[in-house]
Amino acid sequence: MNRIPGNVFPRRLDKALPMMSGAQGIWFFDDQGRRFMDVSGGPLVVNVGHGREEIARAIYDQVLRCDYVHPTMFTTQPVEELARALAAHAPPGVERFYFLSGGGEAVETAIKLARQIHLENGRHQRFRLISRWKSYHGLTLGALAATGRTTFRTPFAPMLTEVVHIPPPYCLRCSFGLTYPGCSLRCALALEEAIQNTGHETVSAFLAETVSGATIAAVPPPPGYFDLIREICDRYEVLLILDEVLCGFGKTGRWFAAERYGVVPDIVTMGKGLAGGTIALSAVGVQGQHFDAVCGGGAGFVHGGTFSHHSVAAAAGLAVIGIMERERLVERADRLGADLGRKLNARFLNHPNVAEIRGVGFLWGIEFVRDKASLQPFPRREKFVERLWQNLFNRGFLFYRSTGLAGIDGDALVIGPPYIIEEEQIDLMIEALERGIEETLAG
Ligand SMILES: Cc1ncc(COP(=O)(O)O)c(C=O)c1O
Repeated sequence: MNRIPGNVFPRRLDKALPMMSGAQGIWFFDDQGRRFMDVSGGPLVVNVGHGREEIARAIYDQVLRCDYVHPTMFTTQPVEELARALAAHAPPGVERFYFLSGGGEAVETAIKLARQIHLENGRHQRFRLISRWKSYHGLTLGALAATGRTTFRTPFAPMLTEVVHIPPPYCLRCSFGLTYPGCSLRCALALEEAIQNTGHETVSAFLAETVSGATIAAVPPPPGYFDLIREICDRYEVLLILDEVLCGFGKTGRWFAAERYGVVPDIVTMGKGLAGGTIALSAVGVQGQHFDAVCGGGAGFVHGGTFSHHSVAAAAGLAVIGIMERERLVERADRLGADLGRKLNARFLNHPNVAEIRGVGFLWGIEFVRDKASLQPFPRREKFVERLWQNLFNRGFLFYRSTGLAGIDGDALVIGPPYIIEEEQIDLMIEALERGIEETLAG
């Protein structure tokens, strides 16, 4: 075993990581003088581009003005203003925002908040959560219990609380072997079945990514899916939590993906691009009526944290929203994202090892297979997407990759560039991708 030098417990234990020394716009620079295009915004985080002075100034000013207050004792101006700014863009009725650090923490908060909303409404039996296979909601134990990504769950399975998982709307590999629209959205009807089987009076919430992100690589819901989900949730008084940590904040060409698919959540989570990747910031948005119910209960929301409602993180978030509004970056993600999708389809759709290209806005996935007709994936041991990723890295392009789309096999790339990317840069990336795929397949 080669032990990684130094005192950091790093994210990778199999190799020493290269040192990045700079980032500007859509580019990274390492300490060897090499340049890398940030094709996927890191893990789909860096939406407004790297090195934005306005965010740096907002953070700097807030540290000097008022760096830390305890969130049970004081509020601060950036926290109040960020909540107001989010309310202006959030789905209808979502008007209260609880600020945290990471996406997983936001998911945990949403799950607890749903339970407490039921408690305050006298529905004491409701505690169960339903989520979906092939989802990703974070690595803390509660969020991991909700996550439907097998390889992440397996080592900790005995420690995970009970969450009922239903199949995702993943038409390419439909769990029911059906085809849209003849399927009558069987995957959405599975929610009703799960609620009934579980005991509808015990179900608290259904948690779903509005657009499936990290695990199955950018799969938008089929038309009508969330209409049916909303209807089922309403029928059984189950709260709908949409996890928009990855797909929110402009990725789909709308501020919230919920808007794109015409669904109104009870609770919505956000994170990643909320502070443009500069500082840890996530949030949970909730319908005003649910907030009122929790207020009416008297106990308050039994939740908290040292770094919740952080003024400096909020100042960064506010600066990001300012940039996105002024530079009309959400509209840009919509427009240029549609071009990106067209170009990916034109170049790769007929490739014998590309099963599907799917996505919306600036959130696209390419799924690779060994055999296109049967959708047989590459066996995981071949590490196809890892080798492709490395090839693209060597060419100076940083992509985000995904595995476990078909059981624990399956390979995909996720593309979600900073919204400031230019058309010519997209073309450069596509050229590199084409060469990378051919070289990787040639072995
Ligand atoms: C949909 C979704 N929810 C939650 C998370 C967890 O966020 P974090 O890694 O910030 O805890 C992620 C991260 O990829 C995500 O994609």
